[in-house]
Amino acid sequence: MDRILGIETSCDETAAAVVADGRYLLADVVASQVQLHAPYGGVFPELASRQHMRDIVPVIRAALADSQTDWRELAAIAVTYGPGLAGALLVGVNVAKGLAMATGLPLVGVSHLEGHLYTNWLRAPDGRRLPEGGAEPPRQAGQAAARAMARSGDPPFPHLALIVSGGHTELVHVRGHGEVTVMGVTLDDAAGEAFDKAARLLGLGYPGGPAIEAAAQGGDASVLELPVATTQSPFDFSFSGLKTALARAVAVGGYATADLAAAFQSAVVRALVAGIRRALEARPALEVHLAGGVSANASLRQAVAELGVPVRYPPPVLCTDNGAMAAAAGYWARRRGRVSGLDLDVVAGLSFPG
Ligand code: KG4
Ligand code: ZN
Repeated sequence: MDRILGIETSCDETAAAVVADGRYLLADVVASQVQLHAPYGGVFPELASRQHMRDIVPVIRAALADSQTDWRELAAIAVTYGPGLAGALLVGVNVAKGLAMATGLPLVGVSHLEGHLYTNWLRAPDGRRLPEGGAEPPRQAGQAAARAMARSGDPPFPHLALIVSGGHTELVHVRGHGEVTVMGVTLDDAAGEAFDKAARLLGLGYPGGPAIEAAAQGGDASVLELPVATTQSPFDFSFSGLKTALARAVAVGGYATADLAAAFQSAVVRALVAGIRRALEARPALEVHLAGGVSANASLRQAVAELGVPVRYPPPVLCTDNGAMAAAAGYWARRRGRVSGLDLDVVAGLSFPG
């Protein structure tokens, strides 16, 4: 089996993992900077770079130790080279290059977005589904479909994937490894960013997604219908109007915070699910995959599960950024022949390399 070390430092998680054959998660170590950035209500780029510098070596050491992997047992070193914060990406890419040079192992640069897609391919070393990882058959599909998905081999192509995080909202059609068509994107704020801004408006702290989800549990979404923006393309998203409408409701006053949180969450989920529904009507897809920080949201998962297509989402630790996504994407990219030179540079605005 090909063991790959994956390194990820594109935003505010310093992460390394060892994955075998792009599927089997042997070790996954993440040093989160969430607390460091919380006072700023968002990621402070220079602080992020400096913290990556401090954490990266211990995190890589821990991933190798946890997986009982020696350098000689690795097949390659994969690293996220974009998209993300340039100064943050530089730390992971430079460490990966140094390691590749010292060990002679091949270096594979991967896209962070492609990495998020592969989080739904990861399994425990014995091939079983990871704890808290979800694969829900459609509600009406019954026991046979449920058992088939529980056995969960590799996900079938084609499928539709929604990457929703603090920096991304990408609806993509995946026909095969490296065969990805971006169908829709956000025209303004990313879905996670919208959650973060809404939480700030409601005084709920950072990161906003989990805070809004928790507050919304005691709330009634029907007290206020927040508008879902229509976009020219039926697959695109726009969240800035929603944020403005929420700000107006806060200014008017009289609403309970829990109700506002519930109304906001419901509007974001409605927008995302509408995009997925239209994409399913336009292209064949055997499954819907959710990935990225916002895919931890239970009401999003539930609403997507009601579309009548099997749904997969990663366990919470793989929804947010991690090294396993880089390792898995690196495995499949390498099988397609991708090897990066030691002159690999970061690409802050990278999308899906072919
Ligand atoms: O994937 P991620 O860790 O970082 C990026 O690559 O951006 O995603 C973080 C984002 C944050 O905006 C956070 O508010 C959001 O994911 N998030 C959630 C939830 N958990 C995290 N949004 C909604 N509901 C959640 N439960
Ligand atoms: Zn991410």
